[in-house]
Amino acid sequence: MKFNTSLKGQKLVIIQSFQPHPEKSLLNILFAAETAKDLGAKKVILAAPYLAFLRQDKRFHPGEAITSKIMAKLLNHSIDKIITIDPHLHRYKSLNEIFSIPTKRLTANGAIADYIRRNFKNPVIIGPDEESYQWARKIAEKIKAEYTIFKKTRLSATEVKEKMVKEVTLKDKSVIIVDDMISTGNTIIKAAQKAKSSGAKNIAAIAVHGLFVEGISKLKKAGINRVITTNTIDNPTSKIDVASLIADGLKKL
Ligand code: R5P
Repeated sequence: MKFNTSLKGQKLVIIQSFQPHPEKSLLNILFAAETAKDLGAKKVILAAPYLAFLRQDKRFHPGEAITSKIMAKLLNHSIDKIITIDPHLHRYKSLNEIFSIPTKRLTANGAIADYIRRNFKNPVIIGPDEESYQWARKIAEKIKAEYTIFKKTRLSATEVKEKMVKEVTLKDKSVIIVDDMISTGNTIIKAAQKAKSSGAKNIAAIAVHGLFVEGISKLKKAGINRVITTNTIDNPTSKIDVASLIADGLKKL
């Protein structure tokens, strides 16, 4: 770790999306931030288009680390401010529950809505589960499209049924499944199967963060015609640019 320029009295912005190696990225941020302060930097800001570890917000299995809390504790110590896009907040209602430093939460909803407006005709927006409601509804409202969310109902130990929370007609429609992230892709694939069995003509998936831990081809093989993400994590699917969102957010800090 080495800086090639003087940082004395400067404000430093570290940009890091934590992929594909979140643990290594975290360590690199800490090394850079501590070194910058040691060299006289006035402030160190972390711009994390994708902020990793947030999904591990409880001990799901005995003995597991709650990595979100550990990550926050380390960053609280070394960073002065964090700016991020659509952080995964489920059990935490706000980033302030784990961060003691100021945080700024941006959303890619506007950029996604603009992309849909330019590239799709009369789509129906679907949130694949109850958590995705916040994205699906807001995006659908922006583009004045019909929307619904799916809800999983467990019928028995082995049988799960996807149900529409609000009935909308999918027959012969262009359907866009919207979520905050695609990790294994299983959530999107399940929703796509339900949309297909309801008669959808074609199916696209749009997410803010494309992690694709099991590859992108899995989604294509499952019959999803288009997979699109923002470039919070750089991928072949990154068609929605959020650089100006981060740049504007930094200006207003
Ligand atoms: C869930 O809470 C998230 O919003 C996503 O739906 C989920 O993380 C996607 O994960 P996967 O692609 O592995 O199903």
